[in-house]
Amino acid sequence: MDVTVVDHPLAAARLTAMRDVLTEPGTFRAALRELTTMLVYEATRELPVERFDINTPVSPTQGVRVAAPPLLVPVLRAGLGMADSALGLLPESSMGFVGLARDEKTFEPRAYLESLPTDLTGRSVIVLDPMVATGGSLTHCCQLIADRGCTDMTVVCVLAAPEGLARLEASGLPLRLVTASIDERLNDRAFIVPGLGDAGDRQFGGM
Ligand code: PRP
Repeated sequence: MDVTVVDHPLAAARLTAMRDVLTEPGTFRAALRELTTMLVYEATRELPVERFDINTPVSPTQGVRVAAPPLLVPVLRAGLGMADSALGLLPESSMGFVGLARDEKTFEPRAYLESLPTDLTGRSVIVLDPMVATGGSLTHCCQLIADRGCTDMTVVCVLAAPEGLARLEASGLPLRLVTASIDERLNDRAFIVPGLGDAGDRQFGGM
């Protein structure tokens, strides 16, 4: 699996704000939005473009546009905080949604929403979820997408644990991953260490 770690001072500063336990939800959401812009920018570096003719106020020239905008799939809840930034960079993209909640005892994901096109053959997909902890949620989500015929998936996340990366790798799914950090490990509650806590709760509060 191709893994890109975005190493940039502006990304590191947003990630620091997200990690800090003293950061309030509004500031946390703003940092996630800004960091997502940087991560999606990196994730789309090789996106195919097509050329077309335009006129500047001075002369004709050629421009480029994204040839086939990828489908964006935020994983609810926490991925919702990444959706608007990603769509801002890719305004022609469509958006699907997957809702997953991790069982607090087994740590396995429970799906409560699958809103995806039935056929994703030949389409590229960007999956948005801040956290890869055990990797169970993203493996489940990416399998749903692969089952619809997609062979070109990019996961954009903020933090990944080595255990989660290993699980995604072992799944054999055709994916790339872009992250702001690979952290040390999981603790006994399957939380990423040092991590940032629960990205859903920190954005939207515990329910
Ligand atoms: C968190 C996170 C990921 C998942 C990561 O979501 O946003 O989706 O856990 O854990 P995993 O890699 O071990 O599967 P959670 O289930 O807490 O739901 P939420 O987004 O609604 O808070």
